[in-house]
Amino acid sequence: MLNFSVNRFSEKTLPQQVYDQISNRILNNEFQAGERLPSSRELANNIGVSRNVVLEAYDQLMIEGYIEVRPGSGTYVSQGSSLLVKKSEQPLELEDQNHVSEPFPSVDAIDFKASNPAMDYFPRSIWGNLTKEVCLHSEDRLFGYNPSQGITELRNVLTRYLSRVRGVKCHPDQIIITSGATQGLYLITKFLTTHNKKVIIEDPIADEMLPIFKNAGADVLPVLVDEKGIMTECLPTNHDPSFIFVVPSHQFPLGGTLPIQRRIQLIEYAREHNAYIVEDDYDSEFTYEGIPVASMQGLDPDNVIYVGTFSKILSPSLRIGYMVLPWHLVEQFRQKKWYLDRHTGTIDQMVLAHFINEGYLDRHVRRMKSIYKQRRKAMVRSISKHFSHFKIHGKAAGMHLVLELEGVDFTEKLVNRIKDQGVIIYPIEPYAISKRKHKNKIVMGYGSLTEDLIEEGVSRIKKVLENL
Ligand SMILES: Cc1ncc(COP(=O)(O)O)c(C=O)c1O
Repeated sequence: MLNFSVNRFSEKTLPQQVYDQISNRILNNEFQAGERLPSSRELANNIGVSRNVVLEAYDQLMIEGYIEVRPGSGTYVSQGSSLLVKKSEQPLELEDQNHVSEPFPSVDAIDFKASNPAMDYFPRSIWGNLTKEVCLHSEDRLFGYNPSQGITELRNVLTRYLSRVRGVKCHPDQIIITSGATQGLYLITKFLTTHNKKVIIEDPIADEMLPIFKNAGADVLPVLVDEKGIMTECLPTNHDPSFIFVVPSHQFPLGGTLPIQRRIQLIEYAREHNAYIVEDDYDSEFTYEGIPVASMQGLDPDNVIYVGTFSKILSPSLRIGYMVLPWHLVEQFRQKKWYLDRHTGTIDQMVLAHFINEGYLDRHVRRMKSIYKQRRKAMVRSISKHFSHFKIHGKAAGMHLVLELEGVDFTEKLVNRIKDQGVIIYPIEPYAISKRKHKNKIVMGYGSLTEDLIEEGVSRIKKVLENL
């Protein structure tokens, strides 16, 4: 007799449990084609369930073709219903050099990761209220398929916002809403890189950025960055690149702001070499000294593709970014975005449009600016308290600074010793393509850390270094 059992406390119904056990055994060839199954009454008695339970399971097995009833004879396993079971592959350790580390640090660690904004300050109740408003009062079309380019409401408010805050010159139809800057950069690389053409990138570059270009098929050509940004005198004259990727307002990781002379040289270079400039403007709203430098896009809207994101200014979990394209690229990118994922989620797009339009974004940026400014000050204070031979690099902006400690080599071993003390630090060397220039520098993100945690983290780093 069949060795079956059922669990009366399971979330699955009894017929479903009987169905599962029989279908699995048929698939695994434990019950073979042509084999006779017990009658429903027999099986019900055997398992201790009502006959109806077995009849329901048998009905389903019959509908799906696992079994057949031969009138006057009984119930039999059908032909062709077993499947050779393959052993599932074991998950492999990922060793791909293009793989990006996932941003989930241990909960207890003090993590100086640069890309994390202050998640504890996300404007939850405003966002929640606006989401409710949008869900209750939007037209039905919002809940259907929408234009790949992004909803008009968001592109309209974004155009006004970018013009006012970043000096970006564009029409709303030149904007494509993307799932973060990451998707925009992937699309740009995928569709602008042509055979035999290189993509110029900054060196060092964010570890999140390099794999995007490489995985989209780019042959990258690094150009060195100094304290002011990309060194335009090092741009190669023997190449016509597809595009030059720059972060001119606050270079990542070194933190420089590209001076106007270099901006002009870069634009002239791009024009001469028939290349685009891709400007990543990921955190420029947060400037703590002086006036933020306007975008490069405003200098040359036909040659500069401007890429922005709401990941730093609001939250990376929204996955909302955008590209501002020269007119002649818009149609092509509108189509490419459609093929990729149809469009970015429109309910959040609409909430964001209201958030900007009703002045909440400006208010949030003002608030966050003062918080980040305090956190940066706390970081500088702690560094000055614990170290005497140091340099801080980068403009007072964004959510990170670069700390250079004289005589220290931030090797993997040292990073691990600091990690053993519950502090995660990020040396610049892994961000660099030409090696051994930044061995004594680390990127210190302060965006998501309270002043107390910053002090505690810096003091623990100091203790480890003292005991070397
Ligand atoms: C230089 C740079 N640009 C942009 C981004 C934002 O990417 P996304 O908008 O996809 O979150 C990051 C993320 O860390 C970054 O390091």
